[in-house]
Amino acid sequence: MKTLRKTIAVILSAIMIFACCGNAAAADMTKEVWDTRWAEDTKEISAAVTMFPGSDENDRNIAWYSASEDGYALLSGINGTEKITAASKETAQGDYRLSVSFTDLAEGEYTYKCVSGDFESETYSFSVKSADTFTAMYVTDIHVGEDDEDVFAVRDSAFKTNETFATAYNKAQQTGDGLDLIISSGDQASLGLRSEYAGLSSNVYTKSIPFATSIGNHDRKSVDYKYYTNLPNESEIINFKSYIGTDYWFRQGDVLFLMFDSNNTSMAGHRYFAKQAVRENKDCKWRVAVFHHDLYGGRIPHRESENALLRLLWAPMADEFGFDLCLLGHSHYYTMSNVLYNNKTVESIAGKDSVTDPKGTIFMVSGSLNNPRDDTDEEGNEPPVGENIGYSYLTTEMIYNLLEFSGDSITIKSYTVESDELINTFTINKTSKEGGHKYRTAMSLLNPLVHFITRIVNVINNIGMYQDYKDQGHDVPFFEGLIG
Ligand SMILES: [Fe+2]
Ligand SMILES: [Fe+2]
Repeated sequence: MKTLRKTIAVILSAIMIFACCGNAAAADMTKEVWDTRWAEDTKEISAAVTMFPGSDENDRNIAWYSASEDGYALLSGINGTEKITAASKETAQGDYRLSVSFTDLAEGEYTYKCVSGDFESETYSFSVKSADTFTAMYVTDIHVGEDDEDVFAVRDSAFKTNETFATAYNKAQQTGDGLDLIISSGDQASLGLRSEYAGLSSNVYTKSIPFATSIGNHDRKSVDYKYYTNLPNESEIINFKSYIGTDYWFRQGDVLFLMFDSNNTSMAGHRYFAKQAVRENKDCKWRVAVFHHDLYGGRIPHRESENALLRLLWAPMADEFGFDLCLLGHSHYYTMSNVLYNNKTVESIAGKDSVTDPKGTIFMVSGSLNNPRDDTDEEGNEPPVGENIGYSYLTTEMIYNLLEFSGDSITIKSYTVESDELINTFTINKTSKEGGHKYRTAMSLLNPLVHFITRIVNVINNIGMYQDYKDQGHDVPFFEGLIG
């Protein structure tokens, strides 16, 4: 009887979920419902419909996998229903990733569905609002991952991801006007496999809320990130392209998001891209940079030499373009730096919950969403914290963050995934309208040499990646790796 009741409850929950699936207002899913969905709804899951940001809050980019090369999206909103023909590119598996862009959307409520061959997706809903006030979730190192010893590893890590997204979504609903954007600063997948991105996309939320990813080192372990994403304003600099991933930008309200591929060490390309993005968005008051690699990860002493090199490359970028905030990942533990300029503390944030008109950048690393770092040795000792730039907070727990943008401020609220405890609240206030922070320097004389060396390093890296992809059986164009 108990089993029967449980089965009926699962079926009823499943009906309820599917009735509003695709709508980010869907109820939180139990594990039973999630597993049922995975067992029965393979077509929808393998299509991996995902909403990425468009150029600004009035645009959206959509992508889905399809056996058919031809397809379209049906977009319904205040002006009726519009059929938008999809562009297609052949995937590494020989089928297609179709993509559409919804552009110049007026404020309001919309629905869409994706159609190709005999596939017709669920109907998904989303909202468009034009305001400087919005809320973004910031996470990193989601690591939806295959595991040779666990056939359900992707399904289960995707479930945990959906659970955390649900918690953040509900919290943003309770404390404000809802969740408008999800930022993920790399290592979305552990092996860079299509199955992992499809698993990640099975969450309810990134069908309806733009998912702004930056590429991590794990995302480029194979070639599929390239097909999975449909990102706006990608860098097309000819001497800079890697085979997988590139820089791109988008804006929301008065915030310019600069999304960098920090696997690519070629700083001349990043700098050129940033210059163009900033020039095209002069009216943006805030500049938020997102990239994967941590610069100030004092918790891992053996990574300090890598961090020192990365600081040499990226700190001058933050100084030159006046980034207000850098959202990073890779270390799998949570840190927030002091206000830094030229690699030095210009304002300590110890004991403070806000700064006003800071004369530098705050670098933040969130804890991994699913994979907390455990660096304890056999005796249970944690490694010593490295001597580095001061931190306001340090924890190895899994973390998600809500970033509240209000026009005059950015408030960061950080929560533990497991106990949903608010561990840190910090606000950056700005009184001027000028883009970025005000204390920028011109490029240092050292940088042309650094740029030259890092370009050579990048070519060598890309040739290594080319060989890895060939060894995996992928037919990748050598030239794109060579010119990096
Ligand atoms: Fe990672
Ligand atoms: Fe990483």
